[in-house]
Amino acid sequence: MMKNRKPDGCREVLKLKIAIVTGASSGMGREFALQIPQMYKNLDELWVVARRTDRLKSLQEQVKIPVRIFDGDMQRDYIFEKLQRELDRRQADVRMLVNAAGYGKIGNVSDIDLKEQCGMVDLNCTALTRMTGICLPYLSKGSRIVNLASAASFCAQPGFCVYAASKAYVLRFSQGLAAELKKRGILVTAVCPGPVRTEFFDRAGALAASEKEALCAEPEAVVTQALTDSVRGRSVSVYGAAMKGSRILSKILPDHLLVWGMMKINHADI
Ligand SMILES: NC(=O)c1ccc[n+]([C@@H]2O[C@H](COP(=O)([O-])OP(=O)(O)OC[C@H]3O[C@@H](n4cnc5c(N)ncnc54)[C@H](OP(=O)(O)O)[C@@H]3O)[C@@H](O)[C@H]2O)c1
Repeated sequence: MMKNRKPDGCREVLKLKIAIVTGASSGMGREFALQIPQMYKNLDELWVVARRTDRLKSLQEQVKIPVRIFDGDMQRDYIFEKLQRELDRRQADVRMLVNAAGYGKIGNVSDIDLKEQCGMVDLNCTALTRMTGICLPYLSKGSRIVNLASAASFCAQPGFCVYAASKAYVLRFSQGLAAELKKRGILVTAVCPGPVRTEFFDRAGALAASEKEALCAEPEAVVTQALTDSVRGRSVSVYGAAMKGSRILSKILPDHLLVWGMMKINHADI
């Protein structure tokens, strides 16, 4: 915390301006960690969260502002307790929170290990909500929250069921929160990309269809668009014409037709 002497002699506390990025060790989270300090020149520190310490350390060498590492598992309590303590101790002013930590598992519900299925809900929904709740008292007018949802949130997805449902939660949670925080001048954006070329698919399993591979976007472009949409105050950021089209279709087609279509695309009826 820095102290600044005002001309009249009284001391004004200047809060530590920070951005927090979860899932910063790879993919889109890492890209947010690289792009945010280039966009926001007045940040004092960048706080990054993920389990792989070595990956977070490599960010310290690449980012021009001080990077504070919170290495830990967001499916456990200690990491949140540590973050809460540090936010309070440093009297932080969180200018931006990016909730990017998340994972998916491709396959039918009956075929995926139950622990993995519940883990998706724990990380994608519970940890994201907890992180947001912890940061809320430290956000102020002009602060932004960016939540990684997915185009998978647009409709029910046989063959990617739990993941799509978890991302539907992120989308609806973000939209509701955006309305709640409007009066405080805090903006919330849900990012809904289609497939993005990251390590996501190492854990999720191979893409079901070659058409999806052809649709794969680059993380740099998706993140640039997400940050631009956040600055413009958009509550939803969708990258690319194909995903924008999917969103429109999901609003006009009946549910049973969407589910049938996703069943075919995901080969979930095999
Ligand atoms: N790639 C896509 O096609 C795609 C499309 C739409 C939406 N998304 C969403 O975008 C977000 C970022 O995904 P990505 O594509 O960048 O995938 P990624 O490269 O696999 O990144 C996932 C990040 O989450 C972190 N993470 C995973 N489990 C964690 C845990 N238990 N505790 C703390 N951190 C954890 C990982 O770090 P550690 O392993 O070091 O912990 C990693 O930094 C996710 O929410 C994903 O669902 C991805």
